[in-house]
Amino acid sequence: MKQTNYSRHFLDKSDYNFLLSAAKSSNITQGKYVETFEKNLKTFCGANYCLTTNSASTALYLCVKSILIKEKNINKFCYISPNTYAATANCIILNNLKVNFIDIDETLNMSPEKLEEALKKRGKIRGKTIVIVTHFAGNPCDLKKFKKLSLKYNLIIIEDAAHALGSEYEGQKIGGGKYSDFIVTSFHPVKTITTAEGGAIFLKDKKTYEILNCLRSNGILKKKFFNKKYYDQIYSSLNFRLSDLHAAIGISQLKRIKKFVSYRNQISNKYKKEINNKNIFYQNITKNSLSSFHLFIIRIKNINFKNKFLFMKKVAKSGINFHNLYIPIFYFKLYRNKKYNCPNAEKFYKDSICLPIFYKIKNSTIKKIIKKLNEFKN
Ligand SMILES: Cc1ncc(COP(=O)(O)O)c(C=O)c1O
Repeated sequence: MKQTNYSRHFLDKSDYNFLLSAAKSSNITQGKYVETFEKNLKTFCGANYCLTTNSASTALYLCVKSILIKEKNINKFCYISPNTYAATANCIILNNLKVNFIDIDETLNMSPEKLEEALKKRGKIRGKTIVIVTHFAGNPCDLKKFKKLSLKYNLIIIEDAAHALGSEYEGQKIGGGKYSDFIVTSFHPVKTITTAEGGAIFLKDKKTYEILNCLRSNGILKKKFFNKKYYDQIYSSLNFRLSDLHAAIGISQLKRIKKFVSYRNQISNKYKKEINNKNIFYQNITKNSLSSFHLFIIRIKNINFKNKFLFMKKVAKSGINFHNLYIPIFYFKLYRNKKYNCPNAEKFYKDSICLPIFYKIKNSTIKKIIKKLNEFKN
């Protein structure tokens, strides 16, 4: 039986045609498709600068690396929410910094109040501190609150918007850059739009853009020497570029982003309207914002973890895979040597299920899911 998972890509003829035209062009990498994709992304989000990369994971890594190049004094401890993907933490540890976890609130994003508590408790320190906030499931973090904290406590804010391309906060697209230093998004097939693999960084600062551009290509700086092309290596790095073949799919997909986001919102409204199991409740969507609904999450009151897995297993037999996203990062072996106080993230992991939501999901599948949930007794 064909299984339905939580998300999947949607490519059509227009995407295939764009891909083919890129494949037939003279440069299949480092050509005009990447340039156009970056220009279109920048316009869509209202950002000053945009750089594409070969994934959001590498984009996050490059952001942290660029901070360490630009800033003299960076605090060794960075803060993230445990309710995120491993990449949010990896970009910190791969840059030889340390991860600290801040608990989530009902939005399922990092709680700004809990972050302030931790910063107060830590006391005065010299230098800047990196905080990465994840817009979990596409629900924007309350960025104004984080901006305030960044001014008060000298923070550098990176938005992990891997889930949130197409989301909006206070009337602005995520990526616009009004409230943070970097915004990173992903084009993995399960995301709002896809390039197969790929990511992008949005930012305001020209100097940082130039550092990132150089880091993306092995730390090499192109120059002219007596009117001849010449290059120098100024940082240690690797190749993190997106190819023109991938960018071509992205250009085509970006044209339909509004349709994708609106469809996901319609599905989420349908779930909320037609699920009438009193034990089920939902993620609080941040005020004055629009979620891309990369994920649709339900939570079940007083659920026992084992019963939840038995229910998920039973539903899988009918061809529908419910998922458990995410395992709190500090449950992983790499972090188990220390205790972290994030009861909300732990509770969320135990009581939540991620339902299928994607463009053109079958109506009959949605009906089947709703029926299973309405019949479920814990
Ligand atoms: C929150 C978050 N950040 C970063 C990433 C990494 O994205 P990519 O697969 O493009 O490297 C993901 C991927 O799922 C994610 O969910």
